[in-house]
Amino acid sequence: MQLSCWLLKLSSCMQALLHASVELRKKLIVDWIPACDLEDSSAKENPDAYKAAWKLLKGADGILVPGGFGDRGVQGKILAAKYARENKIPYLGICLGMQIAVIEYARSVLGLRDANSTEFDVNCKNPCVIFMPEGSKTHMGGTMRLGSRRTHFQVKDCKSAKLYGNKSFIDERHRHRYEVNPDMIATFENAGLSFTGKDETGQRMEIVELPNHPYYIGAQFHPEFKSRPGKPSAFFLGLIAASCRQLDTLIGNVPVKVANGVAMKKGCQNGKTKKPAKFLSGAVYGYCNGVHDEGNYCSWL
Ligand SMILES: *[C@@H]1O[C@H](CO)[C@@H](O)[C@H](O)[C@H]1NC(C)=O
Ligand SMILES: *[C@@H]1O[C@H](CO)[C@@H](O)[C@H](O)[C@H]1NC(C)=O
Repeated sequence: MQLSCWLLKLSSCMQALLHASVELRKKLIVDWIPACDLEDSSAKENPDAYKAAWKLLKGADGILVPGGFGDRGVQGKILAAKYARENKIPYLGICLGMQIAVIEYARSVLGLRDANSTEFDVNCKNPCVIFMPEGSKTHMGGTMRLGSRRTHFQVKDCKSAKLYGNKSFIDERHRHRYEVNPDMIATFENAGLSFTGKDETGQRMEIVELPNHPYYIGAQFHPEFKSRPGKPSAFFLGLIAASCRQLDTLIGNVPVKVANGVAMKKGCQNGKTKKPAKFLSGAVYGYCNGVHDEGNYCSWL
């Protein structure tokens, strides 16, 4: 069955959500939203699906846009990121989900209507996301930035550094070809978007954050790959905490352990409530028109 097939592929993100929810004693409810159902074209072609998708999105306490390849559902994911940003709904974008957030910001805030990724528009005049291969372009496999790479935090006073226990750097796993265009960073930062994590050269953007938002984080790497039971990934923990309005408590209390050897602050447990609080999450994915889209899900390294 196709359904169980892609759910299986998405399971590293699901696992990471679960690890974080268990850690914070929250009951996790995940609604999968097909990204293209959110698009304007679906309002005409499939109004029921359009209504259902927006109802789910608007009911979510937090939104996760996982990684993926290919352009199916990209516009829907951009709409989800816009909704999260404008309505102050906690948002975590991974890989393409980070790039989506950057493109959305360029279009809505910088006013660059044609902003895009060169993955979807090779002749784009405002390319916010570009092909940045590592190593040789001519060797098969040499074009993908794959495996563990180091991220250096650029500022101390940001949610992502605090979630990783104020470390100066972290190592997380990568699997991508496209990255945020380094030539546009100054423009973005002048307009309020903050690139709080970069590689050692400062040319590759690893983490993006919106400081004046309850939780709006994008990661070029895949934090879900290192999430384990009892050692949840910092950004998933942050997403769940922010979605139950407990992020401040989480980043300012008693330390607990999370993945990546990070000392974390524990805040959501007060010892009294054994009954799990309800947490509603919306995950937007790129599964459209009943066609299984290779790559539009979180996959394993
Ligand atoms: C750019 O991005 C959008 C997603 O919003 C996509 O649907 C669109 O077709 C892309 N390409 C061009 C050439 O505009
Ligand atoms: C990280 O630094 C902030 C102050 O910037 C502090 O409130 C917090 O407790 C620190 N977290 C850890 C894990 O040391």
